[in-house]
Amino acid sequence: MTVKTEMNPVRGIRTFPAFPVVLAVVGKEEKNIITLALVHVFSFNPPLIGIGVMPSRYSHELLHRSPDFSINIPGKELVEEVIFCGERSGKELNKFEETGLTPAPGKRIDSPVIEECIVNLECRKVQTFDTGDHTWFVGEVVCAQTVENFDRERALIYWAGEFRTLGEIIRGR
Ligand SMILES: Cc1cc2nc3c(=O)[nH]c(=O)nc-3n(C[C@H](O)[C@H](O)[C@H](O)COP(=O)(O)O)c2cc1C
Repeated sequence: MTVKTEMNPVRGIRTFPAFPVVLAVVGKEEKNIITLALVHVFSFNPPLIGIGVMPSRYSHELLHRSPDFSINIPGKELVEEVIFCGERSGKELNKFEETGLTPAPGKRIDSPVIEECIVNLECRKVQTFDTGDHTWFVGEVVCAQTVENFDRERALIYWAGEFRTLGEIIRGR
């Protein structure tokens, strides 16, 4: 029999291998970038993606007000910008100006996308609900763009304090 060690349930959550880490952008005139690891596909058809945001974040207020947001997947070369947008608040500074990341106009939404990211997903908000200490903003993807030669191995993944990229492929399916 395999010996297992019981742990604090909150620490148990930290045992997930990793989640994608994304830069969400919300707002038009007052636009802001937030780093998020709580991101998930909620439906394939229609294509729905949810982001989990704590009420204490400045972005939470903007997300409540805005009809849309963009989800931008950073390549590993943007790790410092990802950390900056995940440690500083748009309440005190302009993260586009501070990081040098470029807001490009959305094609189907008012919130911009981030030029330097390898994927831009434009989302129209369809549902909002609270779970414990996070609010989930679920959006329908109404426009999706990737860089030429898109390679998912460049995408950053994160959990429990560690940034990584994907590892070996075990098997196709
Ligand atoms: C790698 C990483 C992942 C994060 N994931 C989340 C998340 O999923 N949800 C959340 O509310 N905050 C998350 N944060 C924290 C916010 O990004 C951070 O509090 C940010 O400064 C909030 O910005 P704002 O006040 O401009 O909205 C994460 C931070 C880092 C560095």
